[in-house]
Amino acid sequence: MKILIIGGGGREHAIGKKLLEDYNPIHLYFYPGNGGTGLIGNNINNHYSILELGMFSKKNDIDITIVGSEIFLLEGIVDVFKNFGLKIIGPHYSAAKLEGDRIFSKSFMKKYGIRTPKYEIFSCYQTAMSFLKKKKYFLPIAIKSNGLAEGKGVILAHNIDEAKKALKTIMIEKKFGKSGNKIIIEEFLQGKEASIISLFNGKDIIPFLSAMDYKKIGENEKGMNTGGMGAIVPNPYMTNSVWIDFKKNILEPTLEGLILEKLNFFGFLYFGLMITPNKIYLLEYNTRIGDPEAQTLFPLMKSNFLNIIQSSFLHKEEINIIWEKSCSCCIVLSSKGYPEKYETGKLIVGLDSLQEPFYIAGAKKEKEDWITSSGRVLNIIGIGNTIQEARKKAYDKVKKIKFENLYFRRDIGL
Ligand code: GLY
Repeated sequence: MKILIIGGGGREHAIGKKLLEDYNPIHLYFYPGNGGTGLIGNNINNHYSILELGMFSKKNDIDITIVGSEIFLLEGIVDVFKNFGLKIIGPHYSAAKLEGDRIFSKSFMKKYGIRTPKYEIFSCYQTAMSFLKKKKYFLPIAIKSNGLAEGKGVILAHNIDEAKKALKTIMIEKKFGKSGNKIIIEEFLQGKEASIISLFNGKDIIPFLSAMDYKKIGENEKGMNTGGMGAIVPNPYMTNSVWIDFKKNILEPTLEGLILEKLNFFGFLYFGLMITPNKIYLLEYNTRIGDPEAQTLFPLMKSNFLNIIQSSFLHKEEINIIWEKSCSCCIVLSSKGYPEKYETGKLIVGLDSLQEPFYIAGAKKEKEDWITSSGRVLNIIGIGNTIQEARKKAYDKVKKIKFENLYFRRDIGL
């Protein structure tokens, strides 16, 4: 069996490693892949459009394609591959808008009674300004452009002056391009964030273990948003009662909405959540596995991942995922300066003797040496009976890795 994995980060390396660790008789391809994926499969080095990628997959008899990165989903890769008669895991373009179009997504939540923070949509700067002046929402508020998610195009305003400035930045100066033509003003909720990734097979949504993602570059969630600087599984704030609340007020109405709106697809659905003292709220959907949540989750998955995909996707059987009853902690090692300017090409010491699990996010092998090649470089995982044990193991492994300008957060899992 030939499987193509789309993307080039630690998440894609983790998906590939999991498929191989389950002893599946498979051959892996990655597009574009990275230095780690190149060791476990074939990286496709040509630069392809999604149409060309479809042609490549057809010509090379790829059996299943798994899409990691949202960028390809929003370019309609699933629609293109289906037209070629290829099996692909991910949402078609209309469903990918749940991630890529905030207004579409919020309107879907409102229509199906999915609990989400209060919001208003504006396409006129003056109307948005008058709304702000009426002070209807408690501060702080989030001002969001209608573009791709990933935390880009969001400004948090703590007072009215900051809010007015944010409106100007997004709608007049167009800091985030034309995604600022329409904006959302949203109530900002204080609480604990949680990520729940699930599999959707067009009929059921099967949640994975809960995760907590650390998005900011600085400790104590300070500084710029990143692709993710670490994660823990399970999320300690997802108690039984929070799970019940999540299922009743978010997961079940989401399933109903997806089916009634004919947004059925086979793929991953990611719930970005905020747990407040009384209730859980849905902040956003992503239509893929999270990164670094994938790297934190897969080491705990006991079930054969390919069997899960095949039984639900190809044969539409009921899915039952078995997990280790342990905790997992992932530390992202990055190049100092990320997510802005950073240097690459630094020699990495200690990787070849590092104990599994770990994943390559942005590093390449040159002859016998590992060299940094991106902002996020390595994902180091610790597994333990408690989060504290898992984080200790992860940080002990981190001590064995050295490269110039290495940066990581020291508070993951605290
Ligand atoms: N960890 C958040 C994301 O993958 O978008």
